[in-house]
Amino acid sequence: MVRTAAIAALLIGAASAQIQIPPPIPTRWPENTQLVFITGSYLQEKLVQDAWKHVQTVVRPELLAIKPSTYKQFADITYNDNPQTSGYKARRLQDTADFKADVYTCKGQNDWGLTYDDGPSNVIVGGQHVNDTSAILQRLDSLGVKATFFVCGTAALSQPEILKATYQAGHEIASHTWTHHPITTLTNEQLVAEVKYTEALIYSLTGKVPNQFRPPYGDIDDRCRAILTALGYTTIIWGYQPHRDSLDAGQPAQNPATAKQVVDTIRSWFTPQPGFISLQHDIQQFTASIAITVLDYLVGLKNNNQPFPLNIKTVGQCIEAPYYRDGTSAPGSTPVSTTTTTTVAPTTTAPVPSATVNPDSKQAEDKKNAANVLGTSLGLAGVIALLAGVLPLW
Ligand SMILES: *[C@@H]1O[C@H](CO)[C@@H](O)[C@H](O)[C@H]1NC(C)=O
Ligand SMILES: [Zn+2]
Repeated sequence: MVRTAAIAALLIGAASAQIQIPPPIPTRWPENTQLVFITGSYLQEKLVQDAWKHVQTVVRPELLAIKPSTYKQFADITYNDNPQTSGYKARRLQDTADFKADVYTCKGQNDWGLTYDDGPSNVIVGGQHVNDTSAILQRLDSLGVKATFFVCGTAALSQPEILKATYQAGHEIASHTWTHHPITTLTNEQLVAEVKYTEALIYSLTGKVPNQFRPPYGDIDDRCRAILTALGYTTIIWGYQPHRDSLDAGQPAQNPATAKQVVDTIRSWFTPQPGFISLQHDIQQFTASIAITVLDYLVGLKNNNQPFPLNIKTVGQCIEAPYYRDGTSAPGSTPVSTTTTTTVAPTTTAPVPSATVNPDSKQAEDKKNAANVLGTSLGLAGVIALLAGVLPLW
C-alpha cells in the first residue's frame, strides 16, 4: 500500500516534469555575447525551469552534485571532482545507466564526419560572401556533400538567415551552446539554460530540435553527460588518437604559413582508415578560409575525376542517427526513427520568424551566389551528375 502510493507519486512527479519538445519559446533571448555566463532572471524562464525540473527527476542526485570545474579562461580549467573522467581525452565509450557514451568516430570504414563549429559567420566583400559560412556552403554544394554545423546561439542570433540557409541546404544543424563556455564550469541550471536557449532559437529558425551536441573545447564530465542525455542529446567530440582536430582555432599567428600547416594537417587525413569525425571552425575569416582551401582542393579532384578515399558525411549520417528530434534529417523528409525518450508536446508553437534581418534580399543574394559557384566550378557534366544524383568517386 505504502509502496504503491510511493510509486504512484514518483510516476506523477515524472509525468508532470516531462520535457516539452518542441520547447516553449522564451520571452527574450540571453545577451548576444560570449563574454558573460547566462545568469539571473534568464535562468527563471519557463523554458529553463521546466527542463531543469525534468533533469532533476531523471538524473541521480550524486551526479548533479559533482562540483563544477574552476574556470580561468577558454579551455583553461581545473577539474575539482573526477578529473580522470573529465575532458575530451577521458573518453566514455560505453553507454551507462546514467548517460549515453561520447561519440568520437563514424561507423563506416573511410567515413569522414565533416563538422564546422562556432558559426554561422558572415563576411561580405564587394557583394560576395568571402571566407564565411555561406562561402563554405557554396563549396559543399559543388561537392554534393553535407556537413554538420555545431552552431552557437549567440552566432545564430546575429546571423539567423545564414542558419536558415544552412538548414534549407540539407546540412545538419547541431548545438554548441549559447555562450561557448566550457560546460563543466557551469552550474546545473546554467548548463540547462545554455542547451535550452540554443535549442529554442534553432527551433524558432528551422522548426527542428537537434539531436547532436558538441561541448565547447570538448569539455565534458559525467555530470554534464547525464544532463545532456536527460535533455535528449548525444555528445559528439572529434577524433582522438589519431587526432582529427585541424587545430585551425587559437593559432598564435594567423599568417599564410600557419594556414598552410593547417591545410596540410587536414590533407594528411586523406587516406583509407576507420571512420572519423573532424573538428574545424567556420567562426571567422581565417578558419573559414582554411575550410575553403580544402574544399576547393576537393572540388578540383572531383572536376578532374580524381579518386578520393573518404566518404564525406554529416555526423548524423556517419553515426546513423537522425539529425532532429522528430526523427527527420533533410528538410521536408519523413521521420526515419523515433528513438528519443522525450515527449512531444500536444500544442506545438509555430516557428518565430526573426525580425532582425530582411530575409528577402539576403536569401536572394545567397541563392545567386550559390548558383554562380555551381555554374562555374562544376561544368555541365558535373551539374547533370549532381542533378541526377550520380557523383562518381564521392
Ligand atoms: C580569404 O582567405 C584567403 C586565404 O586565406 C585570403 O587570401 C583572402 O585575402 C581572404 N579574403 C578576404 C576578403 O579577406
Ligand atoms: Zn567551439
